[in-house]
Amino acid sequence: MQLPIQIDFQNPHTLQVQIVEQFHDLIRGGRLPPGSEVPSSRELSEQLHVSRNTVMGAYEHLVEEGYLYTQRAVGTFVTQTIATGTQQPLSRVPSHHRVVNLPLPYTGRGPPGLHQSRDRVLLYDFALGRTDPKSFPEKIWRRLTLDCLGGAAAWMSEYLDPAGLPELRQLITNFLGPARRMVVSPEQVIIVAGCQQGLNLAAHLLIGSGTRVVMESPCYRGAAFLFESYGAKLVPVPVDELGIDVARLPKQPVKLVYVTPSHQFPTGVTLSLDRRIALLEWAAEVGAYILEVDYDADFRYEDSPLPSLQALDRPGCVIYMSSFSRSIGPGLRLGYVVVPRDLIRAATTLKALTDNGQPWLEQATLARFIRDGSWAHHLKRIRSTYRRRRDALVTALHSHFGDVEISGAESGMHLVWRLPRHLSPAHEFQVTARRCGVGVYCLQNSPAYLYEHMEDRDRILLLGYGSLAEEQIEKGIATLAQAAGR
Ligand SMILES: Cc1ncc(COP(=O)(O)O)c(C=O)c1O
Repeated sequence: MQLPIQIDFQNPHTLQVQIVEQFHDLIRGGRLPPGSEVPSSRELSEQLHVSRNTVMGAYEHLVEEGYLYTQRAVGTFVTQTIATGTQQPLSRVPSHHRVVNLPLPYTGRGPPGLHQSRDRVLLYDFALGRTDPKSFPEKIWRRLTLDCLGGAAAWMSEYLDPAGLPELRQLITNFLGPARRMVVSPEQVIIVAGCQQGLNLAAHLLIGSGTRVVMESPCYRGAAFLFESYGAKLVPVPVDELGIDVARLPKQPVKLVYVTPSHQFPTGVTLSLDRRIALLEWAAEVGAYILEVDYDADFRYEDSPLPSLQALDRPGCVIYMSSFSRSIGPGLRLGYVVVPRDLIRAATTLKALTDNGQPWLEQATLARFIRDGSWAHHLKRIRSTYRRRRDALVTALHSHFGDVEISGAESGMHLVWRLPRHLSPAHEFQVTARRCGVGVYCLQNSPAYLYEHMEDRDRILLLGYGSLAEEQIEKGIATLAQAAGR
């Protein structure tokens, strides 16, 4: 098979990069569907008149990214689960649907890399952002969904409050009091499709072309790329072991500062109380909103969580958001934003203009899940599951690699391992690990961004432990140690 790949020898990008990028387009555009076999490296090198090593390097890279997988002695194939774009191949789009001469929609930076696709060739995948499939409360959820369907007709035949089901908003308010020390009213709570939609609403309200937005550096790509798509000028402020370095916040006006205080992404540090207060004072002084993404706050293992920024906020400059992606699963697509009072109207209107609110059935089921106590029970159970997994990972790293430098393990579902100098740099270590079926992630291959300033960036490995059982964690790290020659 000949692939429609063009090599431009005048192009400043390397030949390997050109091949990789065109594979991205072919796969994401659906022209190389999941499961299809790609030409052998020899065939493709002959077709493109480039060296076989160049093609092999490109294939290795695509395997690392999860686009391709290799079956020894059989061939190389497109991964089954890779998220292809919604675009259909042009030839399959009816001609009256083909639109030309219109401004192109935003096709800027985004996936791949934002979410890690499930990779069948990996035996032990320390992927980020993945929850334990076995922990989904399937039985209860099925029962509650059926109960809700019993009275669904009236709800299904109406447009509902775009800000969300009143009962669910009230229950979230009740939860946030003791859990995050927040005193808020249900009108401030807007139910959204996960934090990503919360970020979108905030960005739509506050960011225009050239708006200065302070970002933690490093930070979560999904937020940074989104803000840039609205025209933001990102102002990176470094993160150290106490969280964002408030002494380095800019003095010039800034509209918005984005932070992940409970478990900074990707470093895993917790923003200290002093810095929380200093950040709020700075925001009040420069007139900035703070976007507090409280991702991972439900999983604090060592001590009690600190009060959220929203709880410490007096002037009303914090937009708080969290979701059920970690505690129930990202497939649920439910989360919430707590807006300051002066943004309630604008944010609710925008939510209505976006989608008229989240589907009723999932909201109603979740409300019952929280109301009947299943939520509290579930949280307690999975918190101890993830704590055991975290412990298993820390123990395995110590027993197979000795005196390891680990951070960010106090909460969340991933930790940071700073590789010692006698091991290879993180990007090479990741490749070695993958060859023996273990997925670990260097910063470049994670959803991290703005990490270029970090001196030790190529010693950092991110290891998610949410979806692996303790025995798998031990075996995975033992395999890694063997591969590293320990
Ligand atoms: C730091 C951070 N914020 C936001 C999100 C998006 O979360 P949600 O599923 O709630 O949209 C993620 C997902 O991986 C994340 O890691």
